[in-house]
Amino acid sequence: MYTTLKEVTSRAEELNFTVGAFNTHNLEMLPSLIHAAKEQGAPIIIQTSIDTAKYIGHENLVAICKSMATKNMVDVVLHLDHAREFDDIKEAIDKGYTSVMFDGSHLPFKENIMKTRAVVEYAHKHGVSVEGEIGTIGGTEEGIHVDEDNKVYTDPKDAVEFVKATGVDALAIAIGTNHGQYKSKTEVNIPLLKEINALVDVPLVIHGGTGVNEKDIHKLIDNGIRKFNVGTELLVAWTKKAKETFGETKENKSLRHNIIPCNDAVKEIVKHKIGIFMNKEDLINK
Ligand code: 13P
Repeated sequence: MYTTLKEVTSRAEELNFTVGAFNTHNLEMLPSLIHAAKEQGAPIIIQTSIDTAKYIGHENLVAICKSMATKNMVDVVLHLDHAREFDDIKEAIDKGYTSVMFDGSHLPFKENIMKTRAVVEYAHKHGVSVEGEIGTIGGTEEGIHVDEDNKVYTDPKDAVEFVKATGVDALAIAIGTNHGQYKSKTEVNIPLLKEINALVDVPLVIHGGTGVNEKDIHKLIDNGIRKFNVGTELLVAWTKKAKETFGETKENKSLRHNIIPCNDAVKEIVKHKIGIFMNKEDLINK
């Protein structure tokens, strides 16, 4: 089913797993992400930046996610990642995205609340879910850079006030992760996550999932992380494979010979991650 963030994270809460949110960077890799979810029997969140949505076309992304969700009987959410302008959010909602993130984390706290609240009002009228963010996540994404030194952890008291005042369906928190960290792993602040999770009753979201050590993932799940973003790991795998295949190919050979191995590389990563995210052993024992 083509569905919403609220729907899939509610189920994740009931069964104690986390839903993988994977950034697609082109149209080529998109079907592989959904096929990976189907093979794992899991829901999936496909997310795009605004620039990727414009590059591929919002309507094209919506059409593919809808038709693949129906044909493959997979729960698919299409989510707009890190939007800072209301107009970009409105465009995604009007064109059929089922979930949006308003990222006001760079704004003064009260302004973040006010703007997020306006997004929630518009989105909920259209049956669309909203993710908000407080605190700052380090690293670089789509050209926007936040220095390690300027990272601000999410304050648990602010999280309570923010959720209450905005009505968001999910909250992205800063507990030590960085966007785009793929050469090393980060130290996640589990005590802080526990504190936030004890006070806040909406699903929590991890950004910068590439830099999270896989051995920490179950601790994150057990403490309320219900959406887990992974982008760079897919991008790097696709690009590495593409360098290899395009470097070797004859120029008149069908492009699919170069592109299918890139999509397959991404599919394997997504299947592996979803296996961890689904806490499969626990589900079987329930
Ligand atoms: P990575 O690219 O670091 O995995 O982070 C993805 C993300 O958080 C998208 O918002």
